[in-house]
Amino acid sequence: MKQRTLAIIKPDAVKKNVVGEIIAAITQAGFTVLNVKMTRLSPAQAGNFYEVHKERGFYGELCEFMASGAIVPIALEKENAIVDFRALIGSTDPAEAAEGTIRRSFASSKGENAIHGSDSAENAANEIAFFFAESEIVANRS
Ligand code: CMP
Repeated sequence: MKQRTLAIIKPDAVKKNVVGEIIAAITQAGFTVLNVKMTRLSPAQAGNFYEVHKERGFYGELCEFMASGAIVPIALEKENAIVDFRALIGSTDPAEAAEGTIRRSFASSKGENAIHGSDSAENAANEIAFFFAESEIVANRS
């Protein structure tokens, strides 16, 4: 079954100027880009996006980092997109990520880890809606 997932190329990777390489790795892995934009979050918007982590010790650091520069949210589609995308990006900590994964190739630390991927279909729907109107997704297929 085709699923959607949300990727976000994080500020560390945007600053390293590797947006094109990361998108190429994503499409070479069979994902279809439904929409992509470059934007920047305020700390409050980053806090809303990561609200699920608000009790975690790293929440403040995470929100500050995600608001520290431009990000590139990407709505993606593929069979088994959630699981396959998390395999493509690798473990949260790039030191533990498998060779060839996006985090292993481009991330520098657990906090500044280059890319986000939704962890469930339900969260993917909410996360895609955070950045894109449904009409922007549908327009891609007409
Ligand atoms: P992401 O997939 O975007 O989802 C939650 C994020 O929290 C995660 O990637 C990491 O960037 C961040 N995170 C997880 N653990 C830590 C940690 N120990 N210290 C800092 N940030 C973390």
